[in-house]
Amino acid sequence: MKALRVGLPLVLLALGFLREIASVDRNNFKSCEQSSFCRRLRRTEPDVSKFEILPGTLQTYKQYILLDLQHSETKHLYVLKLSAVRGGIFHFQVDEKSPLSERYRVVDALAGEPEYVPIKVQSSSASAITVSTEDGTSKAVVNVSPFRIDFYKDALLVVSANSKGLMRFEHLRRKETSSAPAENEEQEAQENENQEVAKDPGTWEENFKSHHDSKPKGPEALSMDFSFPQGKVLYGIPEHADSFVLKQTVSGKGDPYRLYNLDVFEYELDNGMALYGAVPVIYGTGPSATAGVFWQNAAETWVDIFAPDQETNVMSSIVNFVSRSSQDDPPAANFISESGIIDVFVFAEPSPLDAFRHYTDLTGKAPLPQLYAIAYHQCRWNYNDEQDVTSVSAKFDEHDIPMDTMWLDIEYTDSKKYFTWDHHKFPHPLEMIRNLTEHGRHLTIIIDPHIKRDGNYFFHNDCTDRGYYVKNKDGNDYEGWCWPGAASYADFFNPEVRKYYADQYLLENFKESTKEVGIWNDMNEPSVFNGPEITMLKDNIHYGGWEHRDVHNLYGHMHILSTYEGLVRRGEGNLRPFILTRSHFAGSQRYAAVWTGDNMADWGHMQASIKMCLSLSVAGISFCGADVGGFFGNPDSELFYRWYQIGAFQPFFRSHAHIDTKRREPWLYPEDVKLIIRDAIRKRYRLLPLWYTMFYEHERSGLPIMRPMLAQYPSDVKSYALDTQFMLSDKLLVAPVLKTGQTKVDVYFPTNKNGESDYWYDADDNSKHASAGYHSVSVDSYKVPVYQRGGTIVPHKDRIRRAATLMKDDPYTLVVALDKDGHSKGTLYIDDETSFEYRHGKYMYIELEFKNNVLSSKKIDETASYATKTWLERVILVGLSKQPKSATLYLLHGESTELNVYAENNAFIVRKPGVSMVDSWSLKLNY
Ligand code: NOJ
Repeated sequence: MKALRVGLPLVLLALGFLREIASVDRNNFKSCEQSSFCRRLRRTEPDVSKFEILPGTLQTYKQYILLDLQHSETKHLYVLKLSAVRGGIFHFQVDEKSPLSERYRVVDALAGEPEYVPIKVQSSSASAITVSTEDGTSKAVVNVSPFRIDFYKDALLVVSANSKGLMRFEHLRRKETSSAPAENEEQEAQENENQEVAKDPGTWEENFKSHHDSKPKGPEALSMDFSFPQGKVLYGIPEHADSFVLKQTVSGKGDPYRLYNLDVFEYELDNGMALYGAVPVIYGTGPSATAGVFWQNAAETWVDIFAPDQETNVMSSIVNFVSRSSQDDPPAANFISESGIIDVFVFAEPSPLDAFRHYTDLTGKAPLPQLYAIAYHQCRWNYNDEQDVTSVSAKFDEHDIPMDTMWLDIEYTDSKKYFTWDHHKFPHPLEMIRNLTEHGRHLTIIIDPHIKRDGNYFFHNDCTDRGYYVKNKDGNDYEGWCWPGAASYADFFNPEVRKYYADQYLLENFKESTKEVGIWNDMNEPSVFNGPEITMLKDNIHYGGWEHRDVHNLYGHMHILSTYEGLVRRGEGNLRPFILTRSHFAGSQRYAAVWTGDNMADWGHMQASIKMCLSLSVAGISFCGADVGGFFGNPDSELFYRWYQIGAFQPFFRSHAHIDTKRREPWLYPEDVKLIIRDAIRKRYRLLPLWYTMFYEHERSGLPIMRPMLAQYPSDVKSYALDTQFMLSDKLLVAPVLKTGQTKVDVYFPTNKNGESDYWYDADDNSKHASAGYHSVSVDSYKVPVYQRGGTIVPHKDRIRRAATLMKDDPYTLVVALDKDGHSKGTLYIDDETSFEYRHGKYMYIELEFKNNVLSSKKIDETASYATKTWLERVILVGLSKQPKSATLYLLHGESTELNVYAENNAFIVRKPGVSMVDSWSLKLNY
């Protein structure tokens, strides 16, 4: 049986942890009804809020105001703090005025302390307090009774908090209630409330299956609703295997979307069940504005969506929604969290991209990866031994398929003890790694956060001796089951543990590794096979005395933070780390790429890879991908090659498979299939200069790399719900084949803000599409419908080699695609592709522009420089109305050369301008 093969202790069989052969079991996971706080707080009908502001308590400071907030019946007091962050972002927090004990506030999600700016109290009356940012463009109106905050951007109401009156805030209390008769109305109300809350059997302790949660603090949940008056659709709050646009969850539509990081085995599609990661940011987009709400809370959270019912026909319901009358309710979301405080950022902009940028200004941007990390990765559970790794790598060469990284899953370790090797299978890890590196390739190995409880394992002994493990409610080291059998979990919330863990990556400690080795942090939800919902008990205790309940969704984030620190130090501060993580929270993009976990080899999961990565991208996590081919099951040829064709156009491109699946390296498929896969991978390598530039620009701007159509075309409501096609930056439209047997793909070309279609050029044959709407495009097995937008310039490298690292000095091709005015613009970024030297000015960032028949290149950052050996091999001009006679290349210092222009493939080509990319130059077309 499989569990024996993977080396799990026999007892796990008895306990039924046959993860390899089981199928999805919804019963392992709670519904809202089974989750006491969700059951207590969820309301799907608007209510009159019982919270009211006490306007006389207003305190005004330079950068914030404070106001007391009171529950009208219990008279319990809360404090509202409202401040503004540069860029017109509002930040507000609601906490109890004097809680019985401190309530948890999320740390480490934000990239740093936000830049708070002065705010002005514009008016204050018994009914409302109005504050604005100094420039007056953003305004917040705090309505006194019932409590509500309306946020305005440029006089437009963009978000309204608690307008449905669904705010709840369970104050901390002692369990024992007084038996003495109440002395006043207030006491009576409090006791009634205590009794009311205590009616729910899960208030002071909760059972789920055989698991008990002791809930020492009792009820402490909170909720708040947010309406988006300018929004037609809501999206965000990954991670769910659902449509990009969020579906309505109220009116009998089932459960809210759930944010609770879980190891969900063989996850289901098209629902809001929790998955591995949680990013509590939601957006509402409409033609006039996009507003975002970032709910900074790391506890289990459920989000109800109030929106038009899209079940029957997404498209028509969105069109209907656009024409809804002004009395209709705007879409709204109600966030319900188990503990913590209400801690919210609100931002809005006319353009979705500007709204996304605010979110990454707060939570950070993915740093530019090494070039190899955005090339193709080859993984499976498992490459069995050194021989296997070496021969798979060699076979890629034999079949002339580019590949940059080989991956090792858990079986490389000595009995699932991370930072060790199984020396029977891998007797010479260093030699194996060096062989790969010398060949231009890399190795990535898995390191999970669970630690085998084994007295002969240094890591376990250190953690035990130093108290580094997460504790159970009684203060002892928490013990669960995971791959090694009995395991404990490092407490990454403790800075000392993080330092210790980071140290383990250093080469002086992990001697059998090198500074080039990438790290795969898996199972970090954390996954606990015998825990409630396959994770940790909520009454476990972390550093600082916080319950696991408070910090659950941050555990994986703290894990990768620690790995990142280790890898930065391992590379002496100068080599860019590569980390892949499964679990994630807001801000995780600063440390790692994310993949969508254990998907399945079916068409639905392949389609889900686009929807899920689009949701992650707008939530700041641009470096996203899915297991190409599907983790579980064996993809047939068609599914397999179609999946490669999609993966090649997603930011993280890795094939991966479960240990039980058939081997599926591309050459194991029939020759024609292998050739299609090879072609898809080569398409990726050809576009690596664009990918690299997009990643660099992401680090600068924080804008998503993979974008929903609405990001670029917010005025076209018909594009809102599209999650079968997407944009790469503002340059390429990718509309891959998503169904079996498809010979045609309906590609939607959106309407731009002038009410017209942009020009779109087919990336294969340069043919032009210039009218908006659906176009049925024929596809053969090789075809990936990809269109370059007219008005853009896309860089290529056309000499494809066995690994991206070997293409460093190769020449560039520029594809210049003209818009209707005969213009186009683009950028190209070049550096050493590995180090952090670019942060010290060692790079070239070039602006390319074509206008008035001249293509010119100039540096964007004048002071930066990088001595690249690359040069310009070819310019492909797409969309010119007539053939130029010749072209003249001018260098800045006066030299010029006359070049021929050829017609080919619906374009005009200038071959071998030969100019170094270091130089500024221009190329004039002569007629
Ligand atoms: C679960 C991960 O999602 C999967 O990708 C991996 O292969 C297994 N763990 C084994 O490490």
